[in-house]
Amino acid sequence: DWTPSRFVEDAVDFIRQEVGEEHVILGLSGGVDSSVAAGLLHQAIGQNLICIFVDNGLLRKNEFEEVLESYKEMGLHIIGVRAEQEFYDALAGITDPESKRKAIGKVFIDVFEREAKKFPEAKWLGQGTIYPDVIESFSVHGPSVTIKSHHNVGGLPEKLHLKIIEPLRSLFKDEVRNVGEELGIPAPILKRHPFPGPGLGIRILGEITPERVRILQNADAIYISHLRNAGWYDKIWQAGVILLPVQSVGVMGDERTYEGTVALRAVNSLDGMTANWTHIPYDLLGKISSDIINKVKGINRVVYDISTKPPATIEWE
Ligand code: XMP
Repeated sequence: DWTPSRFVEDAVDFIRQEVGEEHVILGLSGGVDSSVAAGLLHQAIGQNLICIFVDNGLLRKNEFEEVLESYKEMGLHIIGVRAEQEFYDALAGITDPESKRKAIGKVFIDVFEREAKKFPEAKWLGQGTIYPDVIESFSVHGPSVTIKSHHNVGGLPEKLHLKIIEPLRSLFKDEVRNVGEELGIPAPILKRHPFPGPGLGIRILGEITPERVRILQNADAIYISHLRNAGWYDKIWQAGVILLPVQSVGVMGDERTYEGTVALRAVNSLDGMTANWTHIPYDLLGKISSDIINKVKGINRVVYDISTKPPATIEWE
């Protein structure tokens, strides 16, 4: 029978056998998957695991600092790299979703490669790939059309001449969390909602600018803190705010305003492959809406997304 402790035991043995005395490099994203992959590799090979955490400027508000701190507390050998501007420069003028993913993926590879080259002793690239990623990367919608280029590190292993190790490849999300618990990974990391590699980049419809990122980060921080305070965060599988490329008319005092709109998304799901929208109480939605409109300059309208997957996806891009 599958148990988290048996999985950890087997995975640790497997990693030690595969990797031996060689070093592994792993990109941490702040998410559950890469964190658990890091925890597992750390358990197996200790300081021979080198973790790189890139601030792509598309993380949640204060996420980089907070998460970096928890990783340090986990005892990981971790390098934090601030590269916001490089990502913003590459994204300027791009509005097409897949082009954004490609641009973000490309800069990530450049930054990661630059950092990884500082550790020539590394022979392996660790990845937090989980089972649904394996499936969705190969899924088709009509003849041979990939739905989304899920993997943001395509091409990297070849470029760096690294062998790949993906210790979570057979696991579903809930199993990953159980394994993380078994490894003693801090609850704030484990209970975190899934967050896409391209981050807020695919939650800003239209052009990504530092100013629009700031607007979305502020709205998102308000949304998430209301969900936490009301006890809803842990009942939701994934939540986030989407900044729409829509201006609409509003009124403030005697003034007519013409400002932005955000959509709130919250879904319940087992593995992200199908999802239902969460029935957040109206009064909570009302408080979140007022708070966002009052505090986030540039937003005068909030809407709630009530679409299921399929046919809608969880993200809007
Ligand atoms: P969708 O939008 O396809 O999302 O219903 C399913 C799950 O996948 C996440 N997602 C991504 N994760 N890179 C990632 O690492 C991506 O490009 C990407 N697109 C979607 C999404 O957040 C949800 O958890």
